[in-house]
Amino acid sequence: MDTKEESFESCMRAIDTFKSSDFIMVIFGGSGDLSQKKLIPTLYLLFKKKLISDFSILGFGLPEMDDREYRENIKKWIISFKKEAFDEKVFEKFVKNFYYQGADAKDESSYKKLCQNISKLSKNKDDCNLIYYLAVPPIFFPVIVDNLSNKNLCRDRKNAKIIVEKPFGHDVKTAHTLNKKLLKAFNENQIYRIDHYLGKETVQNVFFFRFGNALFEPLWNRNFIDHVQITVAEDIGIENRAAFYEEASVIGDIVQNHIMQLIALVAMEPPANFEAESIRSERIKVLKSIKPLKTENIYDNIVLGQYDKGMIDGEEVNAYTDEKNVKKDSKTPTFFAGKFFVDNWRWANVPFYVRAGKRLKKRITEICINFKYPPLRLLGHKCRDIESNSIMFSIFPKQKIELRFNVKFPGMENVPYPVDMMFDYKDVFKVDYPLAYERILIDAMKSDITLFAREDGIEAMWNIVDPIKKAFEKDKKIFKYKAGSTGPKEAKDLIEKDKRNWMGF
Ligand code: BG6
Repeated sequence: MDTKEESFESCMRAIDTFKSSDFIMVIFGGSGDLSQKKLIPTLYLLFKKKLISDFSILGFGLPEMDDREYRENIKKWIISFKKEAFDEKVFEKFVKNFYYQGADAKDESSYKKLCQNISKLSKNKDDCNLIYYLAVPPIFFPVIVDNLSNKNLCRDRKNAKIIVEKPFGHDVKTAHTLNKKLLKAFNENQIYRIDHYLGKETVQNVFFFRFGNALFEPLWNRNFIDHVQITVAEDIGIENRAAFYEEASVIGDIVQNHIMQLIALVAMEPPANFEAESIRSERIKVLKSIKPLKTENIYDNIVLGQYDKGMIDGEEVNAYTDEKNVKKDSKTPTFFAGKFFVDNWRWANVPFYVRAGKRLKKRITEICINFKYPPLRLLGHKCRDIESNSIMFSIFPKQKIELRFNVKFPGMENVPYPVDMMFDYKDVFKVDYPLAYERILIDAMKSDITLFAREDGIEAMWNIVDPIKKAFEKDKKIFKYKAGSTGPKEAKDLIEKDKRNWMGF
């Protein structure tokens, strides 16, 4: 067996091997919000780490600007993303690779110029890696795909792929139409539907923890697990994204995608091998097993809320309805609590309680696996009840895994006491780990589709939330909660009526 140091060294050698091959990336919405805040800063970090070197990026979109102006903007975006990561010399080399085509995505004539630009950047090598990134509102997806297809820049173009951001449709019908449109132009393995949660280091650890150890997997089922909790709580509001959020709400923004993918990871069966399709299929099997709620019992299982004004970090913050560009009488939910069941052999009758929301008390992302009580209350416990065992995956703010179990409290009496056995990333790994977007982009460059959603997966996720959206559109049953709180009281009632409590807060 290797010593710990030897294992560490060999892992370092293994992860250092990646170098991207040349690529051209066309970013539709090249100067939009996502490009400014995530995409371009992430590309800069990858360049700084020498993970990408030979590439050209073409920003496509409005407003009109020339390459020089685009490059100046890029500098500002990177600085405001992470000032301490900015290095003038590195930046100079990085930004030389950026070009801009001021164009309206709806204007057919701009695609002729796009073809010319791509040819120029690829130096007429028509097999270089070509990545289209749709960083635009979904309303533009169809027109872009149609135009790329008309110019033979999709399936017929060797080494072309398309990255599609969420929201992928707004219900199963629209997601299906969009899938059809994409699949007319591209093959499924050229389509990369992003869910950045799957790119998070600690989220991937759920998979490694389960299938890299013999210890836990035998317990990972309805015989030993009492329930699962998933919390994606944020203290931020909707920032400047009213138009998007009014349409998506917490359901389209977090529940339909991030939360569902987390459930899939926790509940999936071991795949036949480590191939992308095997892993994706197992995730999707879980999504297809989640029982969609019936109209008559939606509100026994779901609580929707909207934030009212309140205090966060000592500062007064607005009610949702006072946010810029939100209607005063908006009923858009910003909070979701729900109970789902994965209706399969492994998980029958094990509730998955999930919570997500904006403007909550604090930002935490956690998955907690709660085990059943020991079969006999054998131990004398005078002052307190025994706690059940749990495994907590903390994704934010800490990156750690905690196993909770009971020991004897020191002294003459027999009193059980819960303690934690903890693995914390920062204590074990002194290495910098990639941000979710870094990982996801590199995977797309490597043509590794494992962490991306498949056509049927996206539709399965919509099938779960569609009945909730429909019921809500009809009766708008929503509870207000104070910004800075833990959400509406009804969310507490939802779990407490099952004699359980939310973990975390
Ligand atoms: C995005 C949502 O997908 O995820 C945002 O659109 C949300 O509303 C964000 O704030 C949360 O991601 P993370 O990585 O910060 O937990």
